[in-house]
Amino acid sequence: MKLCVALDLPSAKENLELANKIKDYDVWLKVGLRAYIRDGKDFLELLKKINPSFKIFLDLKLYDIPNTMADASEEISKLNIDMFNIHASAGKIAMTTVMNRIKDIPNKPLVLAVTALTSFENNNFKEIYGEDINIKATQFAKDSYEAGLDGVVCSAFESKDIKNNTSNNFITLTPGIRPFGEDSGDQKRVANIDFAQKELVNFVVIGRPIYQSSNPKEIIEKILYSLSIS
Ligand code: C5P
Repeated sequence: MKLCVALDLPSAKENLELANKIKDYDVWLKVGLRAYIRDGKDFLELLKKINPSFKIFLDLKLYDIPNTMADASEEISKLNIDMFNIHASAGKIAMTTVMNRIKDIPNKPLVLAVTALTSFENNNFKEIYGEDINIKATQFAKDSYEAGLDGVVCSAFESKDIKNNTSNNFITLTPGIRPFGEDSGDQKRVANIDFAQKELVNFVVIGRPIYQSSNPKEIIEKILYSLSIS
């Protein structure tokens, strides 16, 4: 399992300081809407300059009509990033259109589909999608698998079921991780590292427990240690 650190700090300077502090660890970095809208592709280049082996997950969660999603995915795939995501609820046609469009791009990034946001409680989710989270997340994952995506963003609670219904090689990436039981903030379906390991999660995304800590390196070391012993 890999650790992906969310760079969700309020300025490029603070995110770059964090990236510098953690540059010697084997971690992925997640660049989300806030940082990308504000700091753009120059910021991605600065991260790769800090450590060229940093892998970057560009978390922009595309959701639009198929052609617009494919246009955006083509541009994203040329940014020298390693993974990005789109919404499974945009539909199978949109996902297939995206994968067809980028299939011949050199060093094509991995593409994941968002199933159910980890900030949803079952009741709020059902009001919008008409089904329980676990059922719908697995359905979205099957659609994504059939559309040729590399994996999904889900909660740790759905990871195993998704693999059982797709393939063990189908990537699961789970936000909403509180490694050692920290405050959950706005996340509703939170899990710790041990649970994520048991559920065969491939990537844990962790933001606030790392960047709000007075000693991010210490937390990362604790997380990497607990990944190495299990
Ligand atoms: O601070 P925290 O660890 O809760 O950060 C989780 C990160 O993962 C945030 O950047 C959030 O946007 C992202 N995310 C999420 N739920 C998803 C997809 C991404 O929380 N389904």
